[in-house]
Amino acid sequence: MPQPDNSQQDRRTSKMVDRRYDQVLRLERLENMGLLATRVAHDLNNMLAPIKMAIPMLRPALNDAAARNLLDSLETTMGRATALVRQILEYADGAGGQFQLVPIQDLLEEIALFATETFPPNIRIEEQIPMDLWQVNANLSQIHQVLLNLCVNARDAMVHGGTLSLRAENCLLNAAMAAEIEGGRAGPFLVLQIDDTGTGFSPAAMAKMWEPFMTTKKAGKGSGLGLSTIRDIIVHHQGFIQLRTAPGKGTSFRIHLPAAGIPKAKAAIEVVKAKRSLVSSTPCNRS
Ligand SMILES: Nc1ncnc2c1ncn2[C@@H]1O[C@H](COP(=O)(O)OP(=O)(O)O)[C@@H](O)[C@H]1O
Ligand SMILES: [Mg+2]
Repeated sequence: MPQPDNSQQDRRTSKMVDRRYDQVLRLERLENMGLLATRVAHDLNNMLAPIKMAIPMLRPALNDAAARNLLDSLETTMGRATALVRQILEYADGAGGQFQLVPIQDLLEEIALFATETFPPNIRIEEQIPMDLWQVNANLSQIHQVLLNLCVNARDAMVHGGTLSLRAENCLLNAAMAAEIEGGRAGPFLVLQIDDTGTGFSPAAMAKMWEPFMTTKKAGKGSGLGLSTIRDIIVHHQGFIQLRTAPGKGTSFRIHLPAAGIPKAKAAIEVVKAKRSLVSSTPCNRS
């Protein structure tokens, strides 16, 4: 076998050193961003405090029902912002945020409403959120962040309009179904599905999609941190992600979160019942 000459080896070594150097720079950048995020979170926490105190003081002064509704939605958003700030501070402390047994319907409705109110009118929002969803043991503000990132990415992929659909379903994966999903495993899962009819992933974006700072968006439009954060959060929840995308044909993300407190036998019976019922959507109906 011919031996590579010295200059070839030198070039390889120098490429390897360059790659390592890039990795070190990237890690340093991440660390600095972490510090910056913690400082911003502290400041934001202080700024949010007077708003939080003022909201209940304002309520008795409002006679108008529409104004009171507005104040209610302000309070909900405020709660969400506080939770997000708390999450960053807890993360910096190494606590990783609070997990609790939660139903996910309200969160999905909230995200769908946010998209309806803030996305351009040429994007149609569809939702399919059954009421009999299994619960999950989750950190609500982290899952909120996941859904928001996915919806914002979907919006950005549909500059000329399209349809964003939010769905949820109970899904009992058997070993064969699980084997078809990267990182998948069998068991009962709550699946959150976000579909868009946008550009689809470009092959270049696809190759590096989970890497921090990978963005195809113009400077100032994208940070490239959305998908890597999503993956970290879902792995932290012991879940996994299924992606389907094709250039020009849209994108579909399915987030699998382990259902909590569902014995396997009960899950199997429920899925069979749901399959028989024409009212419920067919479980695991990958479209
Ligand atoms: N729904 C989608 N459709 C098409 N491409 C997408 C979609 N979501 C993400 N991408 C691609 O993945 C890249 C990384 O996404 P993300 O990590 O959220 O960072 P950012 O949105 O800041 O660019 C995007 O720049 C885009 O190229
Ligand atoms: Mg993004």
